[in-house]
Amino acid sequence: MDLGADPAALQELLIPSASEHTVLLTNVLCRERRSLNGPWKAIIDPYDTGYVNILGAVNRRGFHRDHKPRSPSDRVEYDFDTSMELTVPGDWNTQDPSLLYYEGTVWLRTTFEGGIEFDRSFLNFGAANHTARAFLDGVHLGTHVGGFGQFAFEVTDLVGPGEHSLVVQVNNRREATRIPAMRSDWWNFGGITRSVDLVSVPGTFLRDAWVTMAPDGSLVGGATVDGTPAHVTLELPDLGVELATTEPNGEGQVDLSLSAAAAATIERWNPGRPLLHQVRWTCGSDVITDEVGFRTVRTEGTQILVNDEPTFLRGISLHAEGPTGGRRARGADDAETLLGWAIELGANFVRLAHYQHDEFMVKEADRRGLLVWTELPVYWGIAFDDEAVLANGLAQADELVIRDRSRASVVLLSVANETLPGDDRLRFLTGLVDRVRSLDATRLTTAALLTLPSADPEVHVTDELGAAIDVVAINQYLGWYYGERDTIAETRFTTAFGKPIIFSELGAGAKHGQHGTADEIWTEEFQAAVYEAQIAMVRGQNECAGLSPWILKDFRTPLRVLPGVQDGYNRKGLVSEEGEPKLAFSILRDFYREIS
Ligand code: GCU
Repeated sequence: MDLGADPAALQELLIPSASEHTVLLTNVLCRERRSLNGPWKAIIDPYDTGYVNILGAVNRRGFHRDHKPRSPSDRVEYDFDTSMELTVPGDWNTQDPSLLYYEGTVWLRTTFEGGIEFDRSFLNFGAANHTARAFLDGVHLGTHVGGFGQFAFEVTDLVGPGEHSLVVQVNNRREATRIPAMRSDWWNFGGITRSVDLVSVPGTFLRDAWVTMAPDGSLVGGATVDGTPAHVTLELPDLGVELATTEPNGEGQVDLSLSAAAAATIERWNPGRPLLHQVRWTCGSDVITDEVGFRTVRTEGTQILVNDEPTFLRGISLHAEGPTGGRRARGADDAETLLGWAIELGANFVRLAHYQHDEFMVKEADRRGLLVWTELPVYWGIAFDDEAVLANGLAQADELVIRDRSRASVVLLSVANETLPGDDRLRFLTGLVDRVRSLDATRLTTAALLTLPSADPEVHVTDELGAAIDVVAINQYLGWYYGERDTIAETRFTTAFGKPIIFSELGAGAKHGQHGTADEIWTEEFQAAVYEAQIAMVRGQNECAGLSPWILKDFRTPLRVLPGVQDGYNRKGLVSEEGEPKLAFSILRDFYREIS
């Protein structure tokens, strides 16, 4: 009897490398859905013995079965009903002090009444970090790999009348073969970090449906019919406009279009002047309505044009951290508060770094008239030579692009942050750029490039990735990590690409409420002085299409450990982790007000 499992099979059980049985549903927020949010029961399982037995095989009576003793002698060594509670959505790190630094598996379980009225049902997860295996009444629904993308499992035949047990195994351990991998300057928040909904749809429904304006002013869109092929219509009922639609192809895909001439009268969405139109997709008995803005975005030389107007990106970077409490951001309220702060700053642009944020953020950005940069967590050291990692990167690119293709606010799609040049990296990232463009040719691709210290007043950026992307984004920390503050204003950044340049990161740290001279590090005055010097540089920079300084709000990270100053927070925020503005907030705001 072979007592040991095949090492590769065991590895896959412990560290799933690819998603399986997942479905990407768009327009979930536009659909009738039953929320499964609230208190779930939880079991911490650092050695994964809740799923894998000592033989390296799946434990037939594992936690996923949500077993109950069947007799007084029945040995069941776990019990969700009497275990701890965690709120979903929510990271586990900030819900229990014992979990603040925890990296491993936590099992989460909820129960719900079945008997669904519609023909088909899906369990939709806004995100779970990093891998999630879902089980319904012990049946393995599927696995998702990736900490920030949306995913669903079809449960149509499993949700008959009666109570059902939904068990989700979430593992946030950092792995060299994950995206992101072993190190990141943000907290490794684990858990089901966004909403869980039971979405019921007709037998034939639109699994995907989107529409946006192409750079030539025409409307383009698509839909995927899931079920018996049926005709799809897309109307703008307020405008009496109906788009031309093709019939579903073999994969159920439909193309939608409206010529630029016919779309010429559609009032545009603009940064600062958002205007959304009702759109309605119909496919048999499935009807989806959404509010969509229409604008063009393109580059012309070193400029970014929105609706053919050169548009300077007055931006700010954000992590997905809530306005207070140092926890993973989620839901509409956090989105409204965080983007409200960006509006107060005078921003017309937000960089949603370093991973895909909650869908509520891009919906709110549409409503508030903010341009958006969304981003893949291809951050620092990634296993660029590993085909399975590339496959997951492509899957995360699909999730990043497909969910938001109707969002007028989303204009920049970033494939990476501060990755070191190399052949494997270039192949990997150009593969992601190609994938993004194949899914959405109407938006601009970019990546935040690392620039290293230079005593030269002219910093010439030569990263070969610049040839593959539409907008060259530069991270630079003159006056903080390197460079003398009094030389910043005269520094100039150039590239050979003849494309728009934006400063995707610049800034300095300060502890809110710490005051002194501008030469004393960690004072608000020091941070403000760096901002003044950086703004002077931006003013003199010929080829600058915008900036998104790092960062709106102080955020949790294990990298920042200076007692009494950092205490586990990166202090480059313009506001503290509790939303208290620092001097630099008004420095940047005054600049943005002056140039807007
Ligand atoms: C890097 C990185 C950020 C990080 C920042 C910093 O550029 O992109 O994720 O937080 O610098 O050092 O504060």
